[in-house]
Amino acid sequence: MTPVIELLKAHRSIRKFTDQTVDQSVVEELVIAGQAAATSSFIQACTVLQVNDPAKREKLAQWAGPQPYVEQAPQFLVFCADMKRHQLVCEMHDAPMASGFTEQFLTASLDCGLFAQNLVVAAESLGLGVVYIGGLRNKIAEVADLLDLPELVYPVFGLCLGYPDQNPETKPRLPLSVVLKQDSYDDSQDAATIAEYDETVRDYYASRTGGTKDMSWSEQISGMLSKEARPHMLPFLQQRGFLNK
Ligand SMILES: Cc1cc2nc3c(=O)[nH]c(=O)nc-3n(C[C@H](O)[C@H](O)[C@H](O)COP(=O)(O)O)c2cc1C
Repeated sequence: MTPVIELLKAHRSIRKFTDQTVDQSVVEELVIAGQAAATSSFIQACTVLQVNDPAKREKLAQWAGPQPYVEQAPQFLVFCADMKRHQLVCEMHDAPMASGFTEQFLTASLDCGLFAQNLVVAAESLGLGVVYIGGLRNKIAEVADLLDLPELVYPVFGLCLGYPDQNPETKPRLPLSVVLKQDSYDDSQDAATIAEYDETVRDYYASRTGGTKDMSWSEQISGMLSKEARPHMLPFLQQRGFLNK
């Protein structure tokens, strides 16, 4: 093992932060580390919006759940998939951008994920804690308006950042055989393996909550996936210039 692998395996989301500030110079260094991630065809389609305004934070915290740590975290970043500057550079070369393709949506969204995860690992290497906030997409149109996001820019997720004021256990992940397959997709053993993993997750929740949460992974996921998932996303994205082709 290397220290980097140890760091990656020690990840757990942090939802309670100390009052210690995170200096702007640290945030900037982290964003530069994020920018160093690989980027599809060198497209560089992620813009990070740092939200400092307490009134905006309060609204974002409400819309995301409520999730109070969005308001309380020393730093809150919104990762935006951004194809606007690409439109600009196409104009610079008199080559009107053929926008709206699903492929562009995918590459811009992937760029945000890679950028953010680089930033997260860099942050954790400094002893900072983070939690991603997909809850922003509950009210994505309101978030986009609040942050003055133009067409061809959409908020993929947020990130709370600060020094941890809690030390939760790491969450057990799926067994390797479920996520690593050889040569062809064979899931014949997955149901049995997941049933065993369910008990590991049940024990994890029981230990983390002092016995108050009794839930397996498959119960949690089936409960979530049997409901609609933010059906407003497609019309929002299409209206913003994504996923039209
Ligand atoms: C894109 C994304 C969005 C997420 N959104 C939220 C969120 O809105 N609120 C939250 O508390 N956790 C959120 N999480 C954190 C996940 O719940 C967490 O990563 C997962 O349960 C695994 O736990 P761990 O990070 O502690 O290992 C999000 C994670 C990702 C990657």
